[in-house]
Amino acid sequence: MQQTDIQPISPIQPEAASIAHAASILRQGKLVAFPTETVYGLGADALNIEAVQQIFVAKGRPLSDPLIVHIADTSSLEHLVIHFPPAARQLARAFWPGPLTLILPAAPQVPSIVTAGLANVAIRMPRHPVALALIRASGSPIAAPSANRFMHVSPTTAQHVYADLNGLIPLILDGGPCSVGVESTVLDLCSQPPTILRPGGVSLEALRTILPEIQLSMPPTQHTPHDSHEAMQSPGQMLIHYAPVVPAFLFEGTTDAMHTAMLHEIQQHQAQQQQVGLLLADEDLATFQESGVHIYTLGSLQAPEQIAARLYAGLRTLEEAGVQVILCRNFEEHGLGLAIRDRLLKATGGKIIQLS
Ligand code: TXA
Ligand code: MG
Repeated sequence: MQQTDIQPISPIQPEAASIAHAASILRQGKLVAFPTETVYGLGADALNIEAVQQIFVAKGRPLSDPLIVHIADTSSLEHLVIHFPPAARQLARAFWPGPLTLILPAAPQVPSIVTAGLANVAIRMPRHPVALALIRASGSPIAAPSANRFMHVSPTTAQHVYADLNGLIPLILDGGPCSVGVESTVLDLCSQPPTILRPGGVSLEALRTILPEIQLSMPPTQHTPHDSHEAMQSPGQMLIHYAPVVPAFLFEGTTDAMHTAMLHEIQQHQAQQQQVGLLLADEDLATFQESGVHIYTLGSLQAPEQIAARLYAGLRTLEEAGVQVILCRNFEEHGLGLAIRDRLLKATGGKIIQLS
């Protein structure tokens, strides 16, 4: 066990002294958790093999799951990728800094622990001022997965990181809640056509305005379980990757059908003295207010950005409330909704209650 410090930091104008302190920890080959616009990352110097190894230990993550390398400047690409094709250049111009991760052919300098032995490396330029300042001050690209224990819900606050990694890492920079709230979109530019391996903060529609041929990979329900012996195409796609510790169910159908089925389900659980948690939209509230359950409202159906930003906090809050089951409403699948649905499918392990 080691002491885990939480250092508050301005998410707009990060204090230079705090950044310098965090950067020195990274340069010593240790880990720092830091905010990005998507979720908190658990960072290590991407070119230091022993430092990167500690990420896998702290998270309890299998070595077969590759990491994203975070940069603050496209000039760093020179040492990280063999080439930066015109399509990547266009996408970077449109969406970097931001929640887009590009899979590109890895340069030989990239340690294989970062890529899990794959020929390609995942690169992202985050747009959070703390993340950018930390990368610049450390003088090296930062390898960082989400700063949660493996298989748990991703962290969107410093408190979420602390709950998972207290005693396992020296420092958490606390820049407040993450604005996007779901992870970056992972786009494979080494496949033909370019394929989205994980929907995220940049929508398919937005990406297609730059590269119309972009495809979605298979929906997560069709993926096979994780095999820890070989690196998967994108292990983030496996089901139950983001699972909360309590069983969760996704209800699909019209609002009326969903409400009726959820009320029925609530009764069944309450008859067995079980506590129920609901993950809802504002528009559902009136129906469930009297039902004696734990309710977390994600926001209005009209505001998917808000829903995405509150999604992981919602799952963690219900989990901490001690409920025995979580029932989730469904969301529209376009724009950010695709990433929201993907994370709900993973949180429920594909347990969908399909209503006609
Ligand atoms: O928003 C994000 O992407 C956050 C923040 C911290 O930047 N990071 C994050 O990292 O979500 P992680 O490790 O939890 O998810 C990275 C995803 C995984 O699904 C991983 O399999 C995939 O990216 N990935 C990483 N390197 C890859 C590669 N070389 N080829 C294919 N997929 C890769
Ligand atoms: Mg993760």
